[in-house]
Amino acid sequence: MKDDELKRLRPLILALDTTDPAHGMEIAEQVKEYVDIVKVGLELFSAEGPGVVTSVREKGFEVFLDLKLNDIPNTVASACLALCELEPLMLTLHAMGGQEMMRLASRAVGERCKEAGLRRPLMIGVTVLTSLDLPALKKIGVDHPIEEEVLRLARLVRESGLGGLVTSPLETQSVRRAVGEELVLITPGVRLAGMDKDDQKRVATPGEAVRAGADFLVVGRPIHTADEPKKVAEGILKDAGRL
Ligand code: C5P
Repeated sequence: MKDDELKRLRPLILALDTTDPAHGMEIAEQVKEYVDIVKVGLELFSAEGPGVVTSVREKGFEVFLDLKLNDIPNTVASACLALCELEPLMLTLHAMGGQEMMRLASRAVGERCKEAGLRRPLMIGVTVLTSLDLPALKKIGVDHPIEEEVLRLARLVRESGLGGLVTSPLETQSVRRAVGEELVLITPGVRLAGMDKDDQKRVATPGEAVRAGADFLVVGRPIHTADEPKKVAEGILKDAGRL
């Protein structure tokens, strides 16, 4: 799944977690030297609509479209078909949506992109949200350690034919061992040593995340709130050993 195009991209994904695209793009332009991919998530997509993906791409960035889709298989597959038209680089689904949902969506996307000559997005499964801790998982009926749940979902993502996974940096190493080298691993919760963790609980440095097997790091607030966003982006790539 890791083709050459993907390997050429720098590993830092800038999260545009904002409802103000102008502000988000201003930051993205400042760090363009170090960032090829921008994350468009639910906030920006809901505020601006699908056109925001096109405008980000027109500015020369690839898009990690992180909508974390989760519904019945037919509905998710149909939504994915509509999203394919935007040609994001990556598109996320919740692994909790189950194998049939992931399989159907992945197959439908492959067929549509081939027929229509569209670039096929890399389908990414989200395992356990980093905002869920053990008590929260227990309340929804998950009664075993988080890592076990993440590994179970990671294997399911691989068996469903998706191209990659989102995990916290603390599970990246065991997920990498479990799924092998082919799947793309993406991790949020990345901070340079000494930086504010904000609300992130399971955190690692860029270097630690990459050594554990991460291919891409999603970083938002440390760059958005910095006095010099460019310096922070540069520091992240240096720490990750990619500068
Ligand atoms: O914390 P930061 O602003 O760097 O967030 C980067 C990404 O991490 C967000 O876009 C979101 O997807 C994810 N995130 C998370 N858990 C949180 C907060 C954010 O996984 N508690």
